[in-house]
Amino acid sequence: MAHFKTSFTILAFFFSLTFLTAIKSETLFARELSARDQFGLKPEKMTHLRFYLHDTITGQHPTAVPVAQAATTNTSSTSFGLVAVIDDPLTMSPDPNSTLVGRAQGIYASSSQSEVSLTLTMNLVFVEGAYNGSTLSVLGQDPILKNPRELAIVGGTGIFRFARGYIQLRTYTNNPRTNNAIVKYDAYALHY
Ligand SMILES: *[C@@H]1O[C@H](CO)[C@@H](O)[C@H](O)[C@H]1NC(C)=O
Ligand SMILES: *[C@@H]1O[C@H](CO)[C@@H](O)[C@H](O)[C@H]1NC(C)=O
Ligand SMILES: *[C@@H]1O[C@H](CO)[C@@H](O)[C@H](O)[C@H]1NC(C)=O
Repeated sequence: MAHFKTSFTILAFFFSLTFLTAIKSETLFARELSARDQFGLKPEKMTHLRFYLHDTITGQHPTAVPVAQAATTNTSSTSFGLVAVIDDPLTMSPDPNSTLVGRAQGIYASSSQSEVSLTLTMNLVFVEGAYNGSTLSVLGQDPILKNPRELAIVGGTGIFRFARGYIQLRTYTNNPRTNNAIVKYDAYALHY
């Protein structure tokens, strides 16, 4: 009986040791790494991307859909309070049938009472070549009648990890009847 008890104690000891080691390897709150030596970051570079966003509000296949609005939005000259979700295609040239390079997925809200201006929060999700699967996260104010206007690149994934930069937007066409627009994007991203 004593013998059994001893082996049990030894077993329990080794079990808890293994268990504690396992927990320790799963527990890492913060540690400092050398960006270049331990993390393998290459020197920083700048990438310029040019593409065209197609914002389709009306028609059979809208890519921007209003999801909410205030009681006063209809009587506001700037549609103040309107919120829309977008999944806008991004193409190589202004032709909507040209090569798809990605999609702009996110939310915009009409957020000015004095001009038509949107607050944009979105991810540019790329599918083209080496950029397939990489994203740029964008945040900014978009006064749509101003040319150019500018958005901030606040981060990224994949090729664009650690990205920061800006995007200049210029309206290429805006159909006043349908409100559908094609917007030229010139993005300048610093990344590694
Ligand atoms: C605003 O206008 C839309 C479309 O004309 C209509 O469907 C909606 O009910 C109106 N909303 C309010 C709060 O009046
Ligand atoms: C794009 O392609 C579709 C289908 O082939 C065609 O119906 C449409 O007219 C084309 N659009 C343009 C702008 O060329
Ligand atoms: C992008 O990658 C996905 C798989 O991750 C693949 O299915 C898709 O065909 C690729 N798209 C392009 C345009 O290469």
